[in-house]
Amino acid sequence: MRMKFFVANWKMNKTVKESLNFLRDFIPLIKEIKDREIGIAPTFVCLESVGKTLENTPIKLCAQNVFYEKKGAYTGEISPTMLKDLNVEYVIIGHSERRKYFQETDEVINRKIKASIDEQLKVIFCIGEIIEERQSNMTFDVLKRQIEKGLENINNPSSIVLAYEPVWAIGTGIVASEKQIEEAHAFIRDKLKEIYSEKADSVRILYGGSVTPENIHAIINIDNVDGVLVGGASLDAQKFSKIVKYEKQK
Ligand code: PGA
Repeated sequence: MRMKFFVANWKMNKTVKESLNFLRDFIPLIKEIKDREIGIAPTFVCLESVGKTLENTPIKLCAQNVFYEKKGAYTGEISPTMLKDLNVEYVIIGHSERRKYFQETDEVINRKIKASIDEQLKVIFCIGEIIEERQSNMTFDVLKRQIEKGLENINNPSSIVLAYEPVWAIGTGIVASEKQIEEAHAFIRDKLKEIYSEKADSVRILYGGSVTPENIHAIINIDNVDGVLVGGASLDAQKFSKIVKYEKQK
């Protein structure tokens, strides 16, 4: 059984105070929930205070990025060891915004994944095609390349969660169709099976891209959708709690 996983990716939003205000509102809204996993990825500078507030809750502390070296002269970077020290459980790697604005390549992403696993962090590994790739029928080629290169020489997928995020659906309000999501997730599952055989069955595959309380119900019920990675709608405690509960909108 793959437990459904709901992850808030706050990106470059919320000060420490704003993050703690969110948690004050959010924690009571989800405290009865036991049959699914919830993660929150604040900015690096909020990890410590958010982590302390989450200590006696079931919510998992997640980071949005990491560097692949343990320590050294890498101005501005944060290592897996440092994240582990703050009780971070999951780290998001390969987000399309990192690929686009910070030129992260499949090779860099692979190094980051390996370094994180070495440090006993779990990884939320993001993949997804840009609009031009979808329009030229290259979606599956792109996903194949991203999976093969990103997971190169990673022999056990037990610390990995995949996140399929079509780049054209991120922050645009354009959600992928149910058919597009189903096809992509089935493709990813097959690809994982090719690499990891039966171990692939327990790997969760999240969907990300314009998830809202209005569309979560349809998305979460698609085959091979094991949760969601949420940007914009996760900034609001009410909205994110509705997504986690996937209540139908009245
Ligand atoms: P969005 O972002 O929900 O704002 O589309 C998703 C993501 O980037 O993970």
